[in-house]
Amino acid sequence: MRVLQDFEPTPEQRQIVADNRAGFRIIRGAAGSGKTSTALLQLRLQVAARLRRRQREGASEPVRALVLTFNRTLRGYVEELARKADTGDDSLVLDIFTFGSWSRNLAGVTSVLGRDQTAAMLLPHLADIGVRGQQAFLIDEIEYVLGRYPPDSLDHYLQAKRVGRGTAPRISKVRQRALLEGPIVAYTEEKRNRGLVDWNDLALLASASPPKQRYDIVIVDETQDFSANQMRAVLHHLSQDHSTTFVLDAMQRLYPRFFAWQEVGIKAHRGIVHKLTRNYRNTAAIARFAQPLLAGLPPEDDGAMPDFSACAVEGTPPLVTVGKYSRQIAYMLDRLEAEADLRTETAAVLKARGGGWFDEMRRALRSRGIPYCELTRQSEWPRGDENVGLCTMHSAKGLEFDHVLMPGLSQRVTPHGPEEGDSDLQQLQRMLAMAIGRARKTVMLGYKPGEESTLVNLLDPNTYERVDL
Ligand SMILES: Nc1ncnc2c1ncn2[C@@H]1O[C@H](COP(=O)(O)OP(=O)(O)O)[C@@H](O)[C@H]1O
Ligand SMILES: [Mg+2]
Repeated sequence: MRVLQDFEPTPEQRQIVADNRAGFRIIRGAAGSGKTSTALLQLRLQVAARLRRRQREGASEPVRALVLTFNRTLRGYVEELARKADTGDDSLVLDIFTFGSWSRNLAGVTSVLGRDQTAAMLLPHLADIGVRGQQAFLIDEIEYVLGRYPPDSLDHYLQAKRVGRGTAPRISKVRQRALLEGPIVAYTEEKRNRGLVDWNDLALLASASPPKQRYDIVIVDETQDFSANQMRAVLHHLSQDHSTTFVLDAMQRLYPRFFAWQEVGIKAHRGIVHKLTRNYRNTAAIARFAQPLLAGLPPEDDGAMPDFSACAVEGTPPLVTVGKYSRQIAYMLDRLEAEADLRTETAAVLKARGGGWFDEMRRALRSRGIPYCELTRQSEWPRGDENVGLCTMHSAKGLEFDHVLMPGLSQRVTPHGPEEGDSDLQQLQRMLAMAIGRARKTVMLGYKPGEESTLVNLLDPNTYERVDL
């Protein structure tokens, strides 16, 4: 399956690539503006410049570079382009990791508590705090608190603005305090007593461990998905005259996380912030389709709206198919086979949930003899000839495909609370806009009448063609 390709940078991109000053750099821009590719191009130039300097100075230490992603699929996807910076000898250490495996290696930890295990440990302590049905929200809230503050200043949660968590369900100061003093204390103690480590503990361990290797060049992709503690861990491992680039679009944040730059000790002044404005990936029709999903969300400095005026090609309107699930699949695959050349073009089937939710699609692809691969949580990018990938929307972050198919967008797979400003709904809106934004040429979405996700109602009927099956 195809990965990112080389291209000739535009002037706005060249400015970033050519900027080889030491220190921090932030690349903002909407989906498809070339953030990742530009950062990886810059990596190559920076590595070359540092290697020349190393030779000039006769240094014995290698140049150390680190590329970090949040999810595994993206790691595999960026690896090929990032490896172009590699010299293949011991003058350069080039590490390409997910934050999870990087911090696990540093901390020497093999077994990490999964989110389900954390949830199971927290549940008994939530009974007194939550309104029934809000447990999932409170578990996310706890992840947010633990990820944002260092363990000795968790009470900052009571003062700081809860950016990134929506406005509903409402959480009063009394409940905030109850969360801190009840479940968070109990969970922390239980972990300590049983010698357990969760993902946030890994970040804390990585921030505390004396750095054996300090990195000269660091690129962090999709930085909006990192927690403040994970950021602190990265910053702890930089060399004195490091050059570190954070790539992000807050509009694509999918997890209950937030940090302000100053909170992690970075001054995000104008001189280090670059904004990319063009859209090289999507057609205008696709960007226009995604836009209403983000229109009502709180704006953030690091976020960018899909801008259809920034696209080079108009393209065809996305299709929204309405009918039984099996018919959606049949229709989408008919169209795909008729209109795409799957020897050279790629397609992805994206779903809000993974595993068994793909079974019917797998059967349909097999019966048509269309080769496909699984992309969800794969840390190695598939090298085969299959050009159709099956992927959860979460794992598709940062990837791109010519054609994107999203059958079965039902309320069942996109649950959220009832109130305006609901944090889950906002997260789902960002997720669907991001998923639509993976497409270069066409998008097809489908639902069964009467079972559609709320997200479908947020779309603007003027931006798509409806097909009743
Ligand atoms: N200057 C450019 N000319 C042509 N294609 C480009 C240019 N910059 C980026 N691209 C292409 O646009 C697509 C999106 O790039 P990517 O780096 O994934 O964007 P982002 O990380 O901002 O979502 C990729 O296919 C990339 O090759
Ligand atoms: Mg990217």
